[in-house]
Amino acid sequence: MTIADTLASAPAVARRGPCADGEGIALQGVEVYRADRRVLAISDLSLQERRIGLIGNNGSGKSTLLRLMNGLLLPTHGQVTVRGLESRRHRKRLPAEVGFVFQNPDHQLIFPTVGEEIAFGLVERGSTPVAAAAKARAILDEHGCSGWEDRAVATLSGGQRQLVCVLAVIAPEPPIVLFDEPFASLDLPTRMAFARRLQALPQQIVMASHDFTLFDNFDRVIWLDDGAIRADGPPAEILPDYLAFARTSAGIGGEA
Ligand SMILES: Nc1ncnc2c1ncn2[C@@H]1O[C@H](COP(=O)(O)OP(=O)(O)O)[C@@H](O)[C@H]1O
Ligand SMILES: [Mg+2]
Repeated sequence: MTIADTLASAPAVARRGPCADGEGIALQGVEVYRADRRVLAISDLSLQERRIGLIGNNGSGKSTLLRLMNGLLLPTHGQVTVRGLESRRHRKRLPAEVGFVFQNPDHQLIFPTVGEEIAFGLVERGSTPVAAAAKARAILDEHGCSGWEDRAVATLSGGQRQLVCVLAVIAPEPPIVLFDEPFASLDLPTRMAFARRLQALPQQIVMASHDFTLFDNFDRVIWLDDGAIRADGPPAEILPDYLAFARTSAGIGGEA
């Protein structure tokens, strides 16, 4: 069974189609400079679809673009608006609207135990510690991790830590979740299980990945190249073009 098959068999929740008006993400006249070098330039971009993939070579600007969407990074010029909130003016409010799953779990996890890690975001959003601990337990149960709440994060494998990151981010139910190459270090079965869980999430998702099979069921794929949008459209259109580009870059002949 391929990852695409796994995704196709995921529960049929509202995972495709547009968000309601004003609920998505918009960029206007955005430029990001890092150390005097322009690393991203996007004149006009509206992200309203529920499943959006970001592809592109290393250094093309995927992480930069994702970081703009939850206020981790502010644009040097231009505006980013998330669910009606302009990121410069409402930076503090964005994390409640937009969860961010980092590529490296060790950049995200800060508490000694799994239960504390998941409960933290819930308390931040107003839950009492008792209610947060109960919800953390329920979420762990729901994802096949019963009894993990007292486990030390340091004793988990990479894949298990990645799962805790995802659960900690989705626990407070932010309307948008961003994933920055979340599967890069996972083995295939863990990846497939994750893919299935993600597919079932009701949130708007924007995900950077090199694993294109994940994008088969997505609404839209954006190809970044050297800090600019090179192509943007349905996965069936964009992915073959990027694969052809990759083959050419790698010096693989076109008459396969
Ligand atoms: N903290 C930083 N300081 C300086 N340059 C950076 C920093 N982070 C990223 N860059 C540069 O920005 C460009 C885009 O990087 P990034 O968004 O991380 O790309 P991707 O996620 O597609 O690999 C790259 O040229 C990278 O070197
Ligand atoms: Mg990156």
